[in-house]
Amino acid sequence: MKEIGVGILGFGTVGAGVADGLLRNRETFAQRLGVDVVLRKIADLDITRDRGVTIPEGILTTDASSVISDPSIDIIVELIGGIGIAKKFILDAIRAKKSVVTANKKLLAECGSEIFGAAGEAGVDIYFGAAVGGGIPIIRSLREGLAGNEIESIKGILNGTCNYILTRMAREGARFDEVLKDAQRLGFAEADPTLDIDGWDTAHKASILASLAYGFFISPHDFEVKGIRDLSTVDVTYAKELGYSIKLVAHVSREGDEVGVRVSPTLVPENHLLAAVNDVFNAVLVHGDLSDDLMFYGKGAGRAPTASTVLGDIGDIARNISNGGARYKSAISVANEGILALKVPANNVSSFYVRMMVEDRCGTLGKLTTIFGEHGVSILQATSHKQLKGHEVEGAIPVVIRTHKASSGAVDSALEEIESAGIIRGKAIKMCMI
Ligand code: HSE
Repeated sequence: MKEIGVGILGFGTVGAGVADGLLRNRETFAQRLGVDVVLRKIADLDITRDRGVTIPEGILTTDASSVISDPSIDIIVELIGGIGIAKKFILDAIRAKKSVVTANKKLLAECGSEIFGAAGEAGVDIYFGAAVGGGIPIIRSLREGLAGNEIESIKGILNGTCNYILTRMAREGARFDEVLKDAQRLGFAEADPTLDIDGWDTAHKASILASLAYGFFISPHDFEVKGIRDLSTVDVTYAKELGYSIKLVAHVSREGDEVGVRVSPTLVPENHLLAAVNDVFNAVLVHGDLSDDLMFYGKGAGRAPTASTVLGDIGDIARNISNGGARYKSAISVANEGILALKVPANNVSSFYVRMMVEDRCGTLGKLTTIFGEHGVSILQATSHKQLKGHEVEGAIPVVIRTHKASSGAVDSALEEIESAGIIRGKAIKMCMI
């Protein structure tokens, strides 16, 4: 049977899971693929630490360049993460005509056009199934199963750490910072948790999904990204009283020639599919013009689920090589570059939740609703809520306004006027709703 050699760069949690999978399931893999996928080398700066997997003699090395240049290795699996050295190694591998598997969402979101361009020129494959949704085959589904659909929208819960924090805040009324500490102790937060909680990890994934769905590169720096750092238990509680869960959602949708993308804490009705996605689970709800709604649900992180997707990618490349070469001329089509454009954030349309501490005086609520109307924002419902213990503001009443669909910019300009009219205390809290 033909052998295909694999080299792994990065022997961390996922690297160890991939090595374990390749060694353990080698025979099953060979039966399915018709080629023997052989783990030849693993490079890491630290090759002495126990990673919970027994690696045969001679495979571990500290020299990543020797893995890339090894003629018996056909596929390089980059699991280092970040940009810096990971980008260099991927470009080196492409120049050496090796196909690449990576789970590096940050690198692809920030430098996708350079990486995919280089791979296209070299005629090698880049697979990145594990960059979004860990064990969920969403990238594969968009590239293959849904290739004949116009994608109308994608809504995703794409960060397990945030979802875990939000679930516990809602269940226990726990504070954000207390739960974050637990998430870090349990090991699923990124090394730099700001990537998770400030929404950037979700934004990197949203950028990859949107670019894939719409055929042009969409930078996470060009759309609105809001994380959960400032989310208060007050809003978690009021949302619950109104029948909603709060989730960090990546919203991607197309209207005409424009694609709207944003990442923001979002009120999701309790009977919506995404509201049932709790703890570290991820989910992606895709609406294709032919497929209608499809819901993908699974573990978005962790050693085994992520390794499962990486192995699927290795298997596909191995098949491609045994069939004569790379399959994807360009991993992300850029056919719509210059045809479709990214919507400016202020034009994103949604229903909104706005919570304000309104001055307890005659006429304040009337003034407030008038200002919304003058900015073209129609109110669906206004509710007053009890002050929450520990968050009391004397002389003010917590009021939540839920709007009909409005542009984000119109709501912002109404709030600016409300804040300067002296009828509320502090700043209003605004979140979009599904
Ligand atoms: N930190 C990420 C998460 C890991 O919490 O989902 C997977 O990308």
